[in-house]
Amino acid sequence: MYTQALDLPNPDGDSAGNANVVAMNARSEPHSDALQASFDAKVDADEKIEPRDWMPDAYRKTLVRQISQHAHSEIVGMLPEGNWISRAPSLKRKAILIAKVQDEGGHGLYLYSAAETLGTSRDQMLDALHSGKAKYSSIFNYPTLNWADVGVIGWLVDGAAIMNQIPLCRCSYGPYARAMIRVCKEESFHQRQGYEALLVMMQGNEAQKTMVQDAVNRWWWKCLAMFGPPDANSPHSAQGMRWGIKRISNDDLRQKFIDATVPQANVLGISLPDPQLKWNEERGHYDHGEIDWDEFWATVNGNGPCNKERLATRVKAWNDGEWVRDAAIAHARKQAQRDLKEAA
Ligand SMILES: [Fe+2]
Ligand SMILES: [Fe+2]
Repeated sequence: MYTQALDLPNPDGDSAGNANVVAMNARSEPHSDALQASFDAKVDADEKIEPRDWMPDAYRKTLVRQISQHAHSEIVGMLPEGNWISRAPSLKRKAILIAKVQDEGGHGLYLYSAAETLGTSRDQMLDALHSGKAKYSSIFNYPTLNWADVGVIGWLVDGAAIMNQIPLCRCSYGPYARAMIRVCKEESFHQRQGYEALLVMMQGNEAQKTMVQDAVNRWWWKCLAMFGPPDANSPHSAQGMRWGIKRISNDDLRQKFIDATVPQANVLGISLPDPQLKWNEERGHYDHGEIDWDEFWATVNGNGPCNKERLATRVKAWNDGEWVRDAAIAHARKQAQRDLKEAA
């Protein structure tokens, strides 16, 4: 996931999103009614749009914004969990967490590759992330205070990610849809390992049970916000649906997540921090309370508890890795020269 595909007002940017998208997409498509009609027909027939196909500029920009936000979320999401690798309580938990964090790095790579097929370079996308222009999922701007947080992130954050991402396997843009199939399989493992870690803690002592409940209390509402603003305040959702990028609305996905998660919370033996959470027989769904959107937007706009720390860690990792990138490029050049010599 962790994509929210947020549409943020930006005076320097395009109407659909971030300023970086404008800078990234120097490429502009010729337009004709016939090209548009054939694109629409493909989308309507549920056929995939591929990188060499004609596509409207706005479709390309929306996808670059969404896929790059998604890729950034994967690699920034490695940071809070990466902090816990050295403190995992057993060798088994350490091995699982290392594998999960490595998966998230892989998800970032699939997604950057998918975005590159739209004519945007990885350097441009990373530059937008490191300069603070690009967004990533706000969920990673909250602290992970103890080991129970790591379990809850797997159960709820990756759980919400799966709910958001499964419909993306049917996204109209081929490279994104195909990347999501593999990502979803791995996310399923992430969700299960988190839930299993919590089940074990809930069989422990009172202090461990209290840790789990406390972590759930702190993460529940933030996870519900991961699905993005309510449908009524999500003006670009309709266009995303029309283009076959978005398949299920924010509120419907949120409802699906709640309906699937409440029984899991019961099995775990914890309560969810929402006094209004109640099964509604008539609707066939759980009713729930209001999300604090002011807190959500404050975090999206850079004022969450860990925004600055996450970005600084990410930029430091990029700078520290410069010699590795330089060495890899020098090696590739040498290799290419050798191949040329051999061919001659
Ligand atoms: Fe992931
Ligand atoms: Fe994950």
